[in-house]
Amino acid sequence: MTDEAVELEDLPGVGEATAEKLRDGGYTTLESIAVANKGDLMEKGDLGKKTATKIIQAARNSMDMGYETAKELMKKRENVGRISTGSKEFDDLLGGGVETQSITELYGQFASGKTQVSLQLAVNVQKKKKEGGLERNCLYIDNEKTFRPERIISIAEEQGLDPDEVLDNIHVAQAYSADHQMLLVEEAGELIKEKNIGLIVVDSLTGRFRSEYVGRGTLANRQQQLNRHMHKLQEWSALHNIAIVVTNQVMSNPGLMFGDPTRPIGGNIVGHQSTTRLYLRKSKQDKRIARLVDSPSQPEGEAVFRITSGGITDA
Ligand code: GTP
Ligand code: MG
Repeated sequence: MTDEAVELEDLPGVGEATAEKLRDGGYTTLESIAVANKGDLMEKGDLGKKTATKIIQAARNSMDMGYETAKELMKKRENVGRISTGSKEFDDLLGGGVETQSITELYGQFASGKTQVSLQLAVNVQKKKKEGGLERNCLYIDNEKTFRPERIISIAEEQGLDPDEVLDNIHVAQAYSADHQMLLVEEAGELIKEKNIGLIVVDSLTGRFRSEYVGRGTLANRQQQLNRHMHKLQEWSALHNIAIVVTNQVMSNPGLMFGDPTRPIGGNIVGHQSTTRLYLRKSKQDKRIARLVDSPSQPEGEAVFRITSGGITDA
């Protein structure tokens, strides 16, 4: 991936005016120019054929468009950061906590702990590295109106952090539609850089899509939009070494006679785009069980944790 500091203006033959035109035409990133149709780029940027060709080539050259060696990948992996969930057992299940450069999906029934884990991570990302944080901040997209500052205060106090400071470092937006939700993510680039964001939470990822796209005819459309949405999240995570945490509800699957009669919403799209999938379920009292369903590097398994007044802890 290209250096985040590279702007359209850095391309040869692209001055401020051309960059402006290109942005207006929807070419906001180098990536979009690298894969652009020449004719369209000529039109949107008011460019001659030669210049357009040169610009596309330069954009391609400035990016890693194709292969990288395993060693280069290894190097990128060395930058992966981990955010503690608050529970040692839960962290161990994840190989040390929630990872940056990837999407972690929390799915489960109501009150299974999806929001509580998300809130805990929003606090913990701010902690010192040796204490399970990244010393970075959180962008929280709250689609369910369940973000509670009071809860953040309790969790922060339990961690010995200054609640005022912790609140200041969580940037919350409430999406009022699926389109708005997508826009909030697409437009997050500036905020991510400016506010040193290390974690993006989308709670819930699918709720708005589920309620807005009803009926069979719109299902393909919904999946396409969700795919785009998750792709953008993935892009941010790679570009800025960010952890992405999304929550997802389950729907009952009455056709299933054996096994768990629930499955996450969003089907294959969400499943494939999530790097790590965790299924949360209720246990006795304040205990919860996290089941690692899908992970590129960790074995399947379960962890028990608790939701207490001070946040997530070991059972
Ligand atoms: P939905 O969003 O409805 O799908 O559920 P969810 O999975 O997001 O559930 P959530 O994370 O909100 O968990 C709710 C549960 O957390 C409650 O039923 C409580 O058991 C627990 N909880 C929430 N706040 C507190 C608190 O302040 N103190 C304690 N001890 N438990 C809490
Ligand atoms: Mg919730």
